Amino acid sequence: MKNIAIFASGTGSNFAALVAKFSDAAAGVHISVLVCDQAGAPVLTKAQAAGIPIIKVDYRACGSKAKAETTILRQLPPVDLIVLAGYMRILGPTLLNAYPRQIINLHPALLPSFPGRTGIADAYNYGVRVTGITVHYVDSGIDSGEIIAQEPVRIVRGESLAELEVAIHAAEHKLLPAVVVELLNGGEE
Ligand code: GAR
Repeated sequence: MKNIAIFASGTGSNFAALVAKFSDAAAGVHISVLVCDQAGAPVLTKAQAAGIPIIKVDYRACGSKAKAETTILRQLPPVDLIVLAGYMRILGPTLLNAYPRQIINLHPALLPSFPGRTGIADAYNYGVRVTGITVHYVDSGIDSGEIIAQEPVRIVRGESLAELEVAIHAAEHKLLPAVVVELLNGGEE
């Protein structure tokens, strides 16, 4: 059994997809902890309902990114992989150096196009006919680490941004759990 930590800041629909996938022990992955940087984020309720321990971190109270990351590191149980699922922060060297090539991020566009916080809307407003999702290793840049997996999502003419968001999230909920299993238990199933 491999252990993961999930970092999330908001809704947590991807967190919920990971919980659903890994509730089956046959997947060989155990979610050890949720790390959340936003008080009141809906993902916190989802973790409580699933009985998953939570580490809450208040970056402002910590005083700096390095101090906040040290606070997280002190509380993190041993994990094989850290999954950023809607964690809206750029990681610093404290976390990156502690987990080299063991931190992955989900992004709602086909990187290197449309990095940043609003990838779905940026792709939609640009007018691309194909966008998609990316899972990549995390480095110190903004959505710039080595790409692990991508999935295209077509934008049909007349589709609304809200409809595209639904399609993107549906693709995310399938790809991210599959990539985690592949990275941790690839070839063993
Ligand atoms: C997801 O769409 C994820 O790709 C995106 O945040 C959303 C979180 O949704 N991440 C980024 O934009 C990172 N640059 P969720 O809270 O429902 O899982």
